[in-house]
Amino acid sequence: MSDTPTSSDSPLVGIVMGSPSDAPTMHKCAATLRTLGIPYEMKVCSAHRTPQRAHDFATTAADRGMKVIIAAAGMSAHLAGVMAALTHLPVLGVPMDGKLGGGLDALLSTCNMPKGIPVGTMSMGSHGAVNAALFAAAIIATSDPALNQRLIEFRAQQTAAIDEEPPAAE
Ligand code: RP5
Repeated sequence: MSDTPTSSDSPLVGIVMGSPSDAPTMHKCAATLRTLGIPYEMKVCSAHRTPQRAHDFATTAADRGMKVIIAAAGMSAHLAGVMAALTHLPVLGVPMDGKLGGGLDALLSTCNMPKGIPVGTMSMGSHGAVNAALFAAAIIATSDPALNQRLIEFRAQQTAAIDEEPPAAE
């Protein structure tokens, strides 16, 4: 399976995040995309602090060849919804944890979209960051047989890495 950086390839996935403080979590998303050999682009792009940048990213993504946008934000997390409003591409939202209610603010802001503009909301924090990459891979794999095979191998390796016997007591 590929584990080489793919940032020089034309990106298929756009990762945007509301703040540089979200980067440590979203690097886990990028690492998963690299493992699967999916080229991506990653930008800081806030719905609130850099709205024009967010607008430009969303409205040019499809023409630049992207297939999926992954949007991570915390607190009053509007970034995924704004992206979804500005592109017909599938948008996956990753609520950042650690703020009000441990991230409940971002979870509800991201997931509770009114009908008409969907956001596929992942779990919070690093689990959601990794799952967003896997979900994006699954979407792209529906029309990419080689990626589909890599995704099947990834799942098989993940299964094989989990011992049936629990660790011994300390
Ligand atoms: C959101 O506000 C960002 O996505 C981040 O999770 C949160 C806090 O931002 P910083 O104050 O750390 O820049 O827009």
